[in-house]
Amino acid sequence: MSEQKYAISKYPDVDEIYAALDRLISQPMHPIKRDKMQGYLKYFEEKCATSKKLTDRAKQFIPGGVQHNLAFNYPFPIAITKAKGAYLWDADENRYVDFLQAGGPILLGSNYEPVMEKAIEVIRDCGPVTGLFHEYELKLAELINRHMPAVEIFRMLGSGTEGVLAALRLARTFTGKQKVIKAGGAYHGWSDQMVFGLHVPLTGPMEAHGIPAGCYQDTQEFFPTDLAALRTLLETNHKGGGTAAVILEPVGPESGTRPVPFDYNQKVRELCDEFGALLIFDEVVTGFRLGLGGAQGYFGVIPDLTVFGKAVAGGYPAAGGLGGKAHIMERLAAGLEAGKTRAYVGGTLSANPLSCAAGYYSILELEKTDAPIKAGRAGDKLTAGLKKLIAKHGLPFVAYNQGSICHLETSAVMLMDIRKDAKKAILEAKPRKHMIEEMGAAFMAEGVITLAGSRLYTSMADTDEVIAQALASFDRVLANAGPAQ
Ligand SMILES: Cc1ncc(COP(=O)(O)O)c(C=O)c1O
Repeated sequence: MSEQKYAISKYPDVDEIYAALDRLISQPMHPIKRDKMQGYLKYFEEKCATSKKLTDRAKQFIPGGVQHNLAFNYPFPIAITKAKGAYLWDADENRYVDFLQAGGPILLGSNYEPVMEKAIEVIRDCGPVTGLFHEYELKLAELINRHMPAVEIFRMLGSGTEGVLAALRLARTFTGKQKVIKAGGAYHGWSDQMVFGLHVPLTGPMEAHGIPAGCYQDTQEFFPTDLAALRTLLETNHKGGGTAAVILEPVGPESGTRPVPFDYNQKVRELCDEFGALLIFDEVVTGFRLGLGGAQGYFGVIPDLTVFGKAVAGGYPAAGGLGGKAHIMERLAAGLEAGKTRAYVGGTLSANPLSCAAGYYSILELEKTDAPIKAGRAGDKLTAGLKKLIAKHGLPFVAYNQGSICHLETSAVMLMDIRKDAKKAILEAKPRKHMIEEMGAAFMAEGVITLAGSRLYTSMADTDEVIAQALASFDRVLANAGPAQ
């Protein structure tokens, strides 16, 4: 195993964060002042005319005119034409500091040349896909194993959603048990069984429109920091058919928006062992972002199965995978000896040479450049700067980070606690969501793109100069926020 370094310099004080978030939720909202918001909306009308024209046309042919859940729809989607390093440019040539980072996969900075050159080489040699084995599949699997020894065997898939699907199917095949348990509020992709307890814990199938109830009847959720509730579920299941797996985002639901204590993963590992359930780490975001050893290396906890996505293909398409212990993973192979059942997975474009080569070379570059660590330090600087700005402007907002995963909670829409006040959570969900839409639009008008107005991923390209520039933008926006009038 390689000597690992990790992106988190100091693990956040989770109690302190929740206390600050509770204060934020209990106060009236502090949105952008109405006259200032009008100014920001004018920016879009005046400076983003090409985007407006394009996305208006797109509405005729694409549902809502936009195909990414993380893209801004408010006041209208922005068309991006160029990405390089820390920046994005839109169709009207406006430049933005990019803290969306395509939703997480990019750690080296956008369009990193050494990886791009290798990707082009592969396309020249064999095109993006042949449907047959390519050496890059092996190279990528070996490299992941070198950094994450618990990933003894790896299978590349098309997306994080597919990786989760495969993990659940495999866990059930291997254990012969049916129930799977997730932490409420966590995002594990959009498969029928995982659109359950989405965004806000204990909301069950609230968002499962179009999904037959039978698909999620074996999915259970617990309030993410309540390990006693997890134990109760495991105990109850044990008296029936048992639990196939517990699946976790190791830094907490929604990439640590709801952070968990440092020893949390170890405690869940122990509960899984006690009740004979597999532990699945969803490392779609944390895989390589926390360090080359992933969250499992950082927390020192060995999961049975690990789901990959995003950075596993270095920001190139078809990014997904599943890895884990060999005696479990063998159930994914074709041609097993008689007597063993197989968990069926497939995918025409899965494990194509382009995705595998892009993943392989970008992980090599992460090694060479220490990008996860540099991105983590940039996240620390950004968060420290945001905290200062929040104090300077006397706002109740909360900034915290786990290395290069940074959170700026201004409306805390995903942090409503329906155990404490279900009525408030339901009544305020819409206005709080609209408030972060406005915040996101205001950040953008001031030159910064965030993830849904509340999350910021940093990369190696975020130098001190970039962070200073972004903080100047946040300063201007926060100066315009205040108690709702
Ligand atoms: C933790 C986590 N798991 C799974 C997924 C799904 O991955 P994909 O979008 O590649 O299907 C995501 C996507 O954001 C994620 O953040």
